[in-house]
Amino acid sequence: MNDTNPLFGRNRLKLGLFGVNVSNGCAVTTVPERFGATWPEALAIAQMADGFGFEALVPVARWKGFGGETNMNGTNFDTYTWAAGIAQATKRIGVLTTSHVPTVHPIMAAKQSTTVDHISNGRFALNIVCGWFAPELEMFGRDIMEHDTRYDYAAEWIEIMKLLWSREDEFDYEGKFIRVKKGFAMPKPIQKPFPPLMNAGSSGKGRDFAAKYADIAFLHIDASDLDKAKAHIDSYRKLAREEYGREIHIWSNCHVTQRDTQKEAEDYLQHYVVTKGDDVAAENILAIQGVQMQRLLSEEREYRKFNVKAGWGGMPLVGTADHIVEKLIKLSSIGLDGILLSWVDYLDGMRRWHRDVTPRLEQAGLRLPLTD
Ligand SMILES: Cc1cc2nc3c(=O)[nH]c(=O)nc-3n(C[C@H](O)[C@H](O)[C@H](O)COP(=O)(O)O)c2cc1C
Repeated sequence: MNDTNPLFGRNRLKLGLFGVNVSNGCAVTTVPERFGATWPEALAIAQMADGFGFEALVPVARWKGFGGETNMNGTNFDTYTWAAGIAQATKRIGVLTTSHVPTVHPIMAAKQSTTVDHISNGRFALNIVCGWFAPELEMFGRDIMEHDTRYDYAAEWIEIMKLLWSREDEFDYEGKFIRVKKGFAMPKPIQKPFPPLMNAGSSGKGRDFAAKYADIAFLHIDASDLDKAKAHIDSYRKLAREEYGREIHIWSNCHVTQRDTQKEAEDYLQHYVVTKGDDVAAENILAIQGVQMQRLLSEEREYRKFNVKAGWGGMPLVGTADHIVEKLIKLSSIGLDGILLSWVDYLDGMRRWHRDVTPRLEQAGLRLPLTD
């Protein structure tokens, strides 16, 4: 797509970090080594990821926490100014904002995005989310829109952004939701015609939005059935290709617990998820997502809760470096272009990863050795 953004670089399997702007990151746990969302911590993690050659830092758009002992995600940095700071402090990693469309006017969003694109010299991308956690959006004084309407609103929002990013002259825009009078923005982004867009829509309406507008779609994948997961990925690409004549990249997310033995890794997973999990926060998250827990069998209920606590429902990469690489080879073979990773303790996790997983991924041909 362009040669400034590592999101479209040469590594067959791209890697990013998820959640380095919100307390706890993705792990719903009370262990003291969890991410505290202070700026020095965020900066250290971002700079380590940059030095190790990861492709992306993706923040979470969040305004309120999910309660429980940790008030999961309740301490959260604004994603645009977070991205600006991180972009200035790093050299080659892709830096994203995650923007809740109803909370930011598109003129402001386009301007802020362009600014980060310039600060990063073309390493910026925009993850568009419509919002689903009603209490955080209701803080803005408006009710959350009905599900499909959110995507209609997002479509107007992004159409306006594209006009601001590309039109030299002033333009009027008359939408159902948003009106712009003599819209204008300078400078234009470094990346032409626009910075890349990401979206994680999973409903029919959400998938259609991502296929039409996004360069990267985030999918929630069930890795327990790889044939089914492959069909899921293929159908997404097919929709983008056949309906909109577009080729899109597909990413998903994994939580990582890497240790020298399988048992050590599984013991640590049990420790942070079961012994020290923040069950109240996990139950709140599932309830807000509309999971009718009381209707599920107790086994299914515990499974759902475990996955949320382990890493926001992402796929598990739990075990030795060899085991993790074996899994990554499979995930790449079913068509994933990239994976967002999260750890309970990002710095410790990334050091282990870089020491043991990176060389094995290079041997497997999924990633190239780092060059200056
Ligand atoms: C990897 C990933 C990241 C997401 N990040 C956010 C986020 O930061 N903020 C948010 O409100 N929703 C986030 N979502 C939720 C999605 O935007 C979307 O609401 C969800 O996947 C359900 O899809 P639907 O809107 O099509 O029903 C994320 C989803 C995924 C899979």
